[in-house]
Amino acid sequence: MFGSKYIKYLSDKTKNESFIDRLKIKFRPLIFPIELLLRQVNSGDTIFDIGSGSGQFALLAVHFKKVKEVYGVEIKQQLVLNANNLFKQHAKDVNYKFFQYDGGNLPKEINSATKIFLNDVLHHIPTTNQVAFLENIYNQMDANAVFILKDIDASSFYVYFNKLHDLIFAGEIGKELKFSDAIEILERIGFQILDTNRKNIAVYPHYTIICKKK
Ligand SMILES: C[S@@+](CC[C@H](N)C(=O)[O-])C[C@H]1O[C@@H](n2cnc3c(N)ncnc32)[C@H](O)[C@@H]1O
Repeated sequence: MFGSKYIKYLSDKTKNESFIDRLKIKFRPLIFPIELLLRQVNSGDTIFDIGSGSGQFALLAVHFKKVKEVYGVEIKQQLVLNANNLFKQHAKDVNYKFFQYDGGNLPKEINSATKIFLNDVLHHIPTTNQVAFLENIYNQMDANAVFILKDIDASSFYVYFNKLHDLIFAGEIGKELKFSDAIEILERIGFQILDTNRKNIAVYPHYTIICKKK
């Protein structure tokens, strides 16, 4: 089954999290292009995961790609606690730090990252702030770093399933962009697009854009 080895790995890694957070940690790989995202990671990378949730993606990068340095930022304190607990127990020989931040001013550690991930976070940012948020990443990342934007494609009818999902699990309606608009915005900011991928998994229309500074 798609994502099953990741689900298996994560299945005994949750303990004190809320029921919803446990569901998200364990079953996220089922509805998410996890293979594609992990393919962007090498063992020598320093990962900076923006909107790192409970740290499950970063933990998979540590376990399956042998990454040794991880930063994650989140706006929700409980998720930062979850991530730090997950790493304390299961990533003992890794340098890691998960921060709570204000959702806009990224900590300076972003410029030491070689791979920066924004996995399903952009559609949680108010539409009027999305371009500035991406510009901020561009301005702060290292010239040789790679930025991976993974989000949900508003040009697909299936976007409504994501809106329903977010309403149930996050209590909000997503502000998804069309894939073509995301490309245009990134290029206007100055990113060079290295690769793209669009893939429906279950009822979720994912797009992934891999880019770097020009
Ligand atoms: C759909 S979840 C994705 C979590 C994780 N990236 C993953 O793929 O499993 C969206 C996350 O973005 C976080 N978030 C929302 N606005 C944010 C912001 N401005 N900066 C960073 N994270 C944010 C939320 O707290 C939530 O954990």
